[in-house]
Amino acid sequence: MREAAELPLPDELAQQHSEQLKTLVRAEIDAAGGAIDFARFMELALYQPGLGYYSAGACKFGEGGDFVTAPELSPLFSRCLARQCRQVLTGIGFGDILEFGAGTGVMAAEILLELEHLNCLPGQYFILELSSDLRQRQEHTIARRAPHLLARVCWLDGLPESGFQGVILANEVVDAMPVHLVQFQEAGQVERCVGHNGRDFIWQERALASTECQQRINGLIDELGDEVFCPGYLTEINLAQSAWINSLAAMLEKGVALIIDYGFPQHEYYHPDRTTGTLMCHYRHRAHGDPLILPGLQDITAHVDFSALALAAHEAGLDVLGYTSQAQFLLASGLGEILAEQDQSDSRAYLEITQQIKKLTLPNEMGELFKVLAIGRDYDADLEGFLLQDRRNRL
Ligand SMILES: C[S@@+](CC[C@H](N)C(=O)[O-])C[C@H]1O[C@@H](n2cnc3c(N)ncnc32)[C@H](O)[C@@H]1O
Repeated sequence: MREAAELPLPDELAQQHSEQLKTLVRAEIDAAGGAIDFARFMELALYQPGLGYYSAGACKFGEGGDFVTAPELSPLFSRCLARQCRQVLTGIGFGDILEFGAGTGVMAAEILLELEHLNCLPGQYFILELSSDLRQRQEHTIARRAPHLLARVCWLDGLPESGFQGVILANEVVDAMPVHLVQFQEAGQVERCVGHNGRDFIWQERALASTECQQRINGLIDELGDEVFCPGYLTEINLAQSAWINSLAAMLEKGVALIIDYGFPQHEYYHPDRTTGTLMCHYRHRAHGDPLILPGLQDITAHVDFSALALAAHEAGLDVLGYTSQAQFLLASGLGEILAEQDQSDSRAYLEITQQIKKLTLPNEMGELFKVLAIGRDYDADLEGFLLQDRRNRL
């Protein structure tokens, strides 16, 4: 990981943009009496309308942006996901797809093209996107890559309240949800909050104010033992994901949600050696650990606790249908067959595809750190993507 001092300097326009956001956040900190919890800081930094990292116009994805996600890296990822969608859509007879946080729209376009090729298009492809800037970008991408399928795509302002049948997709969405930062001390836990010194943001310790956060901490100590959390141990608690799962449960009548992200089951996430948590920032393809700088210009993420997600799903009345690594999921979802269909006489294109497969599946690339969790309702068949390996017993 880089030192923050080694990062490239933003240009003047970007600095002005960041200053605007800083002024707004400082005012909120003052109004709150000197500090806000980190989850609120992260929410403002990423989602403040017009100014937050995901709400404003910066490039973000791909080579010219800050990071590359799997659908940006290769269409193979989306084509494999499409095959898993096909099994569910044909299994339930007919249904829609709903994608959360659709990035540039490339995954939506490739999934639709593959489902068309497989003769299994969904009724509609809904996208729920918090950023109006990204909505426009998604529309543009789909209009360019799959113009004849654009009419099937529908952008939602909120979740359907109930009655959804089909497949829900969320790739690298949960890692972008605001998290609380909790530090363990000899005498209990404190919350790491954000204050300011008149110009820059600084860390402030406060008593843990959220009872929900305290309950989650107590549950972790009961489950894992307090010897895991040595004095100074810093970690994240994602409360937003439980509310998100509850809203999925409320709308899902029949079908499956596939949640893909980097993370671990609880005993690996809250490992005694992981004493500084998993919070990470991305700025122009440099990863570093200081979320208080470059507000509005850099991505802030935390790894996903898949056990907590699965538990939230179970408590919301959903079934946990599968959990495995991205590599095992893609291989079980037809990655090999898609490769076999490629024209090997074009050696350059073939080499490129094999390089993409390596990045998606090798354990030291995305293959092992990224996981796929399937949750659902009223869906009984074994999901194809988990037939090679299902690690639900590790959750
Ligand atoms: C790292 S990007 C991933 C984009 C895309 N899925 C991809 O794989 O390229 C995270 C996305 O999640 C979205 N997001 C975060 N929380 C969300 C929520 N509660 N509902 C919908 N989208 C959300 C953000 O707006 C952003 O577009």
